[in-house]
Amino acid sequence: MNPVIEAINRRRSIRAYEPKPVPRDLVREVINAGNEAPSAMNSQPWRFVVVEDGAARKELLAAALPRAKEITEQVKDVDPERYEMIKKRYAELPDPVYYSAPTVIFVIGTGRYAAHSCPLACENMMVAAHSLGLGTCWVGFGAMAVEEPDVKALLELKDGDAVFGPILLGYPKGEPQRPPKKDAKVKWI
Ligand SMILES: Cc1cc2nc3c(=O)[nH]c(=O)nc-3n(C[C@H](O)[C@H](O)[C@H](O)COP(=O)(O)O)c2cc1C
Repeated sequence: MNPVIEAINRRRSIRAYEPKPVPRDLVREVINAGNEAPSAMNSQPWRFVVVEDGAARKELLAAALPRAKEITEQVKDVDPERYEMIKKRYAELPDPVYYSAPTVIFVIGTGRYAAHSCPLACENMMVAAHSLGLGTCWVGFGAMAVEEPDVKALLELKDGDAVFGPILLGYPKGEPQRPPKKDAKVKWI
């Protein structure tokens, strides 16, 4: 199979990582792939904050977890199956938000083009990481940590900055099954 198509198809969200750190040259390669993404008006409205430090990652978890739990309660009636799955993670995992990934990359967007452009950088990063034998996961719950002023200061966020991801990065522990995916809905004209 074409290697790009194969990487796109075989990338999975990874929720278990080896404790082994990711060498910085690989982290840079993943970020450079993000930086190559298309962007409106070629604005490249992103920057990347890489968190590797153990104490900082603990601070992120302490800030994000109560907020993630609060949001989870809101899906209880809307999607009971997903609710139970997430609750199980809270009960079983030491880090049910960032899954103890050794590297957490916040993609920070500024300006009017960020909303459309930054997710493309994120996807490039996830596919590139997969092609390098690394695992990733976009963790929306993880972005909630920035609601804590200390975390906002730690990441040097300014008012008006938008957070995409964060994208977890690490060596995957095992290979998850492909979740069910709907067939593409297409109308030909
Ligand atoms: C915007 C966004 C937010 C997400 N947030 C989370 C999250 O907080 N926690 C998590 O475990 N997975 C999160 N995911 C991963 C999705 O659950 C995952 O992409 C989906 O189940 C499909 O699985 P796949 O990525 O293996 O194809 C997020 C994905 C996206 C795109």
